[in-house]
Amino acid sequence: MTTEQLSDWSKRQPASGAVHLVKGHGGLPLVRVETATSTAEIYLQGAHVSHFQIKGQEPMLFMSGKSRFEPNIPIRGGIPLILPWFGPREGLAAHGWARNKAWDLQTITPEQDGSISVSFVLESPGISGFGPFKSEYAVNVGTALSLELRVTNQATDQDLVFENCLHTYFVVKEAADLAVAGLKGTRYLDKVGGITERTETAEFITISSEVDRVYYDTAARVEIIDPGLKRIIRVEKLNSQSTVVWNPWIAKAKAMPDFGDEEYHGMVCVESGNVGPNRLTLAPGKTETLKVRLSFTGI
Ligand code: BG6
Repeated sequence: MTTEQLSDWSKRQPASGAVHLVKGHGGLPLVRVETATSTAEIYLQGAHVSHFQIKGQEPMLFMSGKSRFEPNIPIRGGIPLILPWFGPREGLAAHGWARNKAWDLQTITPEQDGSISVSFVLESPGISGFGPFKSEYAVNVGTALSLELRVTNQATDQDLVFENCLHTYFVVKEAADLAVAGLKGTRYLDKVGGITERTETAEFITISSEVDRVYYDTAARVEIIDPGLKRIIRVEKLNSQSTVVWNPWIAKAKAMPDFGDEEYHGMVCVESGNVGPNRLTLAPGKTETLKVRLSFTGI
């Protein structure tokens, strides 16, 4: 979609909602969405949702005050879109290229229920180890934030092996007061101090030091119980077998140049995707769709 088409759409949009293409931080193009009940912001770079808020409530997504906003540099906070690999890869960008590339705005659709969907598309740049594939990402803004990442293997003779993850940073009042529910009994790779395989024994995971865990073979809904903000964030997912829970805590926060030293108090990442042992293999011509729905209720 061109800027002209967007401005044409803006003139026709319904009274209950609005979509505008504006310049965000660092002059990066940003899609701003407003519905009767909520607001959201999505950078074209990385199709990166940097903001979602139900009107009258605290924002749902944490953004670092130290984030960089520059072409080809990941944004810190919101929902980095991780594709086609998760974590570091020698000589290449950590967490894949998709979060660093400018995606194209594809469609804007006002839905019957008053929500608005905005979709983006990215062709693969052709990096060794990956055949051609198409990525499409639909963001639905309403009383919840619903995300749909579709990957299509465009090769005719080669499987596509990849990882995907919506690396969501949530706003919380105080990380040390949280309880994260839904992962009891799940196997995980504990990445703190080397990689150790463990099984989660806690009904409610609490955070009192660095947490960096890849839970695998789990499609379970996860709840973040936040007594400080008196709300429960719900992370529901489809076609996702991995959940990553991450809080950098004191030392790692200090070591990250694009993250404030004290910001670890006010965030937690609960990430949904298919990584590590759950990486995906897609036959030629096939499509895989990851769906995540984020919402909250009061307590
Ligand atoms: C998490 C990883 O998903 O992302 C952590 O499990 C990593 O190991 C974190 O530190 C942040 O990664 P990045 O590349 O955005 O700094």
